[in-house]
Amino acid sequence: MIYFMNGQFTDQEGCTISIDDRGYYFGDGVYEVVKVYNGELYTAEEHFNRLVESAEKVKMVLPYSKEELIGIASELVKANQIETGHIYIQATRGVSPRTHQFPEIPVTPVVTAYAINNPRPLKNIEEGVRVKIVDDVRWLRCDIKSLNLLGNVLAKQEAFEAGCAEALFVRDGIVMEGSSSNVFGIKNGTVYTHPATNLILNGITRRVVMKLCEELAIPFVEKEFTPIEALSMDEFFLTSTTAEITPIVSIDGHPIGNGQPGTVTKQLQEAFARQIPVPVKAN
Ligand code: PDD
Repeated sequence: MIYFMNGQFTDQEGCTISIDDRGYYFGDGVYEVVKVYNGELYTAEEHFNRLVESAEKVKMVLPYSKEELIGIASELVKANQIETGHIYIQATRGVSPRTHQFPEIPVTPVVTAYAINNPRPLKNIEEGVRVKIVDDVRWLRCDIKSLNLLGNVLAKQEAFEAGCAEALFVRDGIVMEGSSSNVFGIKNGTVYTHPATNLILNGITRRVVMKLCEELAIPFVEKEFTPIEALSMDEFFLTSTTAEITPIVSIDGHPIGNGQPGTVTKQLQEAFARQIPVPVKAN
């Protein structure tokens, strides 16, 4: 496997992280996950725009332009012969003896990335998943795709231990998002999701779903809703780069609708599948 580490394409032995890396000490950095379909990066512009925005929000200057980052990602896809999979890229503030404040002598962010083959999660996409409500104890800047994911990690683990695929974050009586996904409810044909505030990550797949709703003339409303309202939705689903559009069939053991993936969700899944790069069939 070929990795990217500070300007080099190298094998794992070539990737050495300093003990003084601020990512290691503080989770002081930002990241992205970009899907690859048929050897092509999907919505790369949107992901790398968000990486640059996340870096700006934490006052980090990335050592590469957006175009260079897309070039690095494309090179990794090629070098590792990725067909269906994803690339992971992160940038930490850099290497410096541990102090909470930024290093006095400026350091260059450490950029690392890898590409991996990873099939589409078709079973979950077809059958749906169960979710568990978890208290959202994360910080108030969930709009930043930060390496600091302890709140997300603990929530996902709690969900897994309860036999669920995802945690449904609730803060102050409002449904926010999943631990690594955005969530949507459908009531009487209208799709509802939490507005893109500082309290959720504005997912790239979320934005794709908004666009698909517009194209399919499905009403879409960014509006807060409660867990009780969530339980009375006709359909529910989550989105992320790797999960695509995955139906949610139960919340805390209560079935949503008839406990099966719903028709509007399926319509959106079909529309999603139509716009991803598909393999060119051999004659
Ligand atoms: N997670 N909300 C959170 C908290 C996330 O971590 C993610 C993505 C999303 C969905 O964003 P997008 O559609 O851009 O993938 C929403 C990635 C996949 C991860 O951490 O692995």
